[in-house]
Amino acid sequence: MTDLVRLERRRTVAIVTIDRPERMNALSWATVQRLGEIGRELALDPTVRVCVLTGSGEKAFCAGADLKERQGMSRGQVREMLDAYRSELGWLTSSDFVSVAAINGVALGGGLELALTCDLRIAAPGATFGLPETGLGIIPGAGGTQRIARLIGESFALDLVLTGRRLDAGEALSLGLLNRVAPSADLLMDSTLKWLEPVAEGAPIAQRAALSAVRAAQRLPLDQGLDFEREAYERCLNSRDRDEALLALSEKRKPRFQGK
Ligand code: COA
Repeated sequence: MTDLVRLERRRTVAIVTIDRPERMNALSWATVQRLGEIGRELALDPTVRVCVLTGSGEKAFCAGADLKERQGMSRGQVREMLDAYRSELGWLTSSDFVSVAAINGVALGGGLELALTCDLRIAAPGATFGLPETGLGIIPGAGGTQRIARLIGESFALDLVLTGRRLDAGEALSLGLLNRVAPSADLLMDSTLKWLEPVAEGAPIAQRAALSAVRAAQRLPLDQGLDFEREAYERCLNSRDRDEALLALSEKRKPRFQGK
């Protein structure tokens, strides 16, 4: 019996690993609850700047809902599970840190929806993706229909949701479902950390302001979004880090940001 989900800290980066390789890191009730607990713990820690979500083993990021557990669930329990996806996983895009899915293998159904809940996505070259739910007589129920349509547009979203077909990493990248593909599975974590180093080490106030402003673009009409951006800029303008960056530029040195 594993701990279901492991949490590791590397300075400003939190690495969250779903650890059920024997079930392809599928999302059981307890796994979703544990992810929620970890999210709440991380949200209380202002030193976290980046959260990497990944799966243990080489085969799966996450194979979606735990179908063995699902077989024994009543309809009421399934409804509770759908609510839990939202309440326990939403922190991935509502916290002050950026979340990135490092997809090390299959990301199917709820597994792909989990990756879609993150702000960013990187994958190993052999990773595969799909939303097979309609083939199981249901639809994606962890935000998948909404997030995939926003991310890659209605037409490609319909293709994936209605056919349930699988994509490889190359196609996922070309559709904009992925931000990037790592050179090899072994280099997935290193590539993720290197890619996000500017975020992990950058000016905290500006990073948080930028994250919240871009996220706001998803939900606000343009006029309100522009107001939101203006307020976010104001927080940077009033920061000592902004003065330090200008000073460092004139002194031809690297800025030392303090998050003030
Ligand atoms: N829930 C629970 N267990 C799962 C699972 C899931 N979603 N996906 C895989 N497993 C289990 C298998 O039952 C198997 O366990 P067992 O040997 O005790 O029976 C183990 O993980 C390995 O799976 P297996 O199918 O033998 O490996 P594979 O490499 O041939 O295929 C998958 C891997 C993920 C492609 C395949 O298991 C699959 O299609 N799973 C279902 C994925 C899915 O439809 N998810 C969407 C749910 S809405």
